[in-house]
Amino acid sequence: MSWRADVLTLFPEMFPGPLGLSLAGRGLREGLWSLAAHDIREHAKDRHRSVDGTPFGGGAGMVLRPDVVDAAVGAALAEMPDRPVIYLTPRGRLLDQALVRELAAGPGAVLLCGRYEGVDQRVIEARGMLEISIGDYVLSGGELAALTLLDACVRLLPGVMGAAESAAEESHGAEGLLEYPHYTRPAEWAGRAVPEVLLSGHHAAIAAWRRAESENITKERRPDLWARHETQRGGAGAIAGHPAAA
Ligand code: ADE
Repeated sequence: MSWRADVLTLFPEMFPGPLGLSLAGRGLREGLWSLAAHDIREHAKDRHRSVDGTPFGGGAGMVLRPDVVDAAVGAALAEMPDRPVIYLTPRGRLLDQALVRELAAGPGAVLLCGRYEGVDQRVIEARGMLEISIGDYVLSGGELAALTLLDACVRLLPGVMGAAESAAEESHGAEGLLEYPHYTRPAEWAGRAVPEVLLSGHHAAIAAWRRAESENITKERRPDLWARHETQRGGAGAIAGHPAAA
């Protein structure tokens, strides 16, 4: 059974959207992963097909009903129940490459996209949902966040990225460093030359230059990532006690 995503949304037309194109789209057509978008409204209980209500305690906006959301989650989980149920929300755990790797290594996910003010807290708890945010800003709904999370996961699935697009050396890769700069033809453009070493054919020198650039860019732009990289590097040797084996 390949990696499977079920998305619960009031706007199923938004899917697969960009995920139907490029590498993710090819993977989808080749069956390397699968995606189904489900309209939450299909699980409405009354003849008005209402999915939301005004918040108890007052306030602006509408809240998605727990009974409706629970039915939608139950239906989505029926075929492959061993998947995490993720609720996309700005108050969730920040998505990073470590979490992406973890999700991509699993069987898939059920993704709940909120609209309006949010989702009734009880169904979030009852279903043990994993709340995830894609960044500290507010979108008008969880759909673009779900597409982002799926894109990040799917490109890691076996066979989705060709050897040419290898994930090994990219930003946020195993080392937690940002990527070094890239250059292609022409060797001189608009009075700007490509760094000499890249034209030298000296592979060890090129690798050393790239490594140094990665480190400098990370230190400069993301001191938080650099600090984590440093602790991980130091930590591994200290725990093992045998730096040579690390
Ligand atoms: N829904 C609205 N804003 C969001 C965000 N930043 N991350 C995830 N889901 C969201």
